[in-house]
Amino acid sequence: MARILVTSALPYINGVKHLGNLVGSMLPADAYARYMRQRGNEVLLICATDEHGTPAELAAAKAGKSVAEYCAEMHEVQKALGEGFRLSFDYFGRSSSSHNHRLTQHFAGALADAGLIEEVTERQVYSHDDGRFLPDRYIEGTCPNCGYERARGDQCENCTKQLDPTDLINPRSAISGSTNLEPRDTKHLYLRQSQMREKLRAWIDSKTDWPVLTTSIAKKWLDDGDGLQDRGITRDLDWGVPVKRGDAEWPGMEGKVFYVWFDAPIEYIGATAEWAEATGQDDAAWERWWRTDKGADDVRYVEFMAKDNIPFHTLSFPTTIMGSGEPWKLVDYIKGFNWLNYDGGKFSTSQGRGVFMDQALELLPSDYWRWWLLSNAPEGSDSDFTWEAFQSGVNKDLADVLGNFVSRVTKFCRSKFGEQVPAGGETGAAEAELIAELDKRVNAYAAAMEAIELRRAAQELRGAWVAGNEYLQRAAPWAVFKTDPEAAAAIIRTALNLIRLYALISRPFIPDASAALLKALKLPEDAAQEWPAGAEAALSALPAGHAFDVPDNLFGKLDDAQVAEWKAKFGGGQ
Ligand code: MF3
Ligand code: ZN
Repeated sequence: MARILVTSALPYINGVKHLGNLVGSMLPADAYARYMRQRGNEVLLICATDEHGTPAELAAAKAGKSVAEYCAEMHEVQKALGEGFRLSFDYFGRSSSSHNHRLTQHFAGALADAGLIEEVTERQVYSHDDGRFLPDRYIEGTCPNCGYERARGDQCENCTKQLDPTDLINPRSAISGSTNLEPRDTKHLYLRQSQMREKLRAWIDSKTDWPVLTTSIAKKWLDDGDGLQDRGITRDLDWGVPVKRGDAEWPGMEGKVFYVWFDAPIEYIGATAEWAEATGQDDAAWERWWRTDKGADDVRYVEFMAKDNIPFHTLSFPTTIMGSGEPWKLVDYIKGFNWLNYDGGKFSTSQGRGVFMDQALELLPSDYWRWWLLSNAPEGSDSDFTWEAFQSGVNKDLADVLGNFVSRVTKFCRSKFGEQVPAGGETGAAEAELIAELDKRVNAYAAAMEAIELRRAAQELRGAWVAGNEYLQRAAPWAVFKTDPEAAAAIIRTALNLIRLYALISRPFIPDASAALLKALKLPEDAAQEWPAGAEAALSALPAGHAFDVPDNLFGKLDDAQVAEWKAKFGGGQ
């Protein structure tokens, strides 16, 4: 049994997330955590809302609320949606928590003690029409790196380059659109990331098992002359973590807050501390996940995120961790994702384009989305959500393969043998063949989950479902029953056990269906906390006489009219 710490990139507080956000970190982190728990590991899955910075302030202003009130409300909304999608977070925290305030100030103090923070008087963009400085997303313009015209002051979402507001070409205020801007002097703290370059390089070079997507982005910004330039980690904003050096005031920094990207990843630790407090544990409970001097040296720490987050998690956050000179846990593996597009275009929060988590749950239960998204996760390259692909995935994989198998087997049994696992007959060559195929599939599935290759895992899981259908086709119990009811009983006994096996192995992907299957088999929910030791044993786990219910139809099929209606309602992505 290992101890595995899993974090999902923290969703911004500024609105309900879309399916692209969901599949880019939270959902795969959940599937992985579920799998690892089921294999008997001690897993801690942490997420939180990322609440500071200009996105929060802009969204609150738009909603006509104070930023504190807005964040409190949106946190509850996002938390409920996470539950709706069955994201099994051990804790869903808030980066605005007192724990994160303290930790962020602590790290700033440690970094300053290590000589990695510099006070710099710099030019920031001041907007006359808005009467304020315009940090980060308060300013937009053309990316100097790739020419994208809607780059934000903090990062170009097109080419992932981290930017400073003064880098933008043709800058304009995101509040008023004003171009009446002027650079003005203001004092800020800079994190001397450049000092860490060789340490970071050696560390990233040692991660030979990381996905190419992760290391290629990390190396690109590491080698690019200014990818690792010293960065301002404070802002002239009201909402955020007040700048302090540990517990002490920081002269000259009054009224300023830390930059959101400085405090956000620290909230991985903060949320773990929130979890410990919320569950009535002491500090040692969270420190054993995060402090290598307090037990975290045997933790495997895995992070999930979309590709735009990779620079922050391979360079900036590790600078904070390593630079502190304290024994904090560094990430062991970073799983990065490409973009999920919407019907050939981009999902867009600002333009409301695509399907958002709340809307998705109004249309269909979460398993439908979970299955499609995970089995089409943008791993090797960007992938595309289309309504046709979604319909086909749901109908073929869930309804025709898994749902149909369960329905045929349980209904046939009820009509011929009653609602219990039938006795009699013997298994033979057909079952041996099934067992071999299942072992192959389940082992390949497990290997893919260990490697965090979700599409491949989904394929193998589907392969295990298909193997059951093929077995049923070959064994044809309905025909056999006419001449040899005992032989048919052995086939159905095998098939009912297969349903149990499916309930176990499908749980990381479709937990509600898994629970429905267990309930139909009158097994306790925690029966799915185990992993089958092998197909042969699994196929005789339910003894003759074990009672079951025929479950309601597990998955409904999506018909063309329904899909056309949704497509019209949500629009194309172009
Ligand atoms: N809120 C960021 C985003 O949505 C992710 C922050 S991840 C964190 O892109 F760890 F840094 F918080
Ligand atoms: Zn760019």
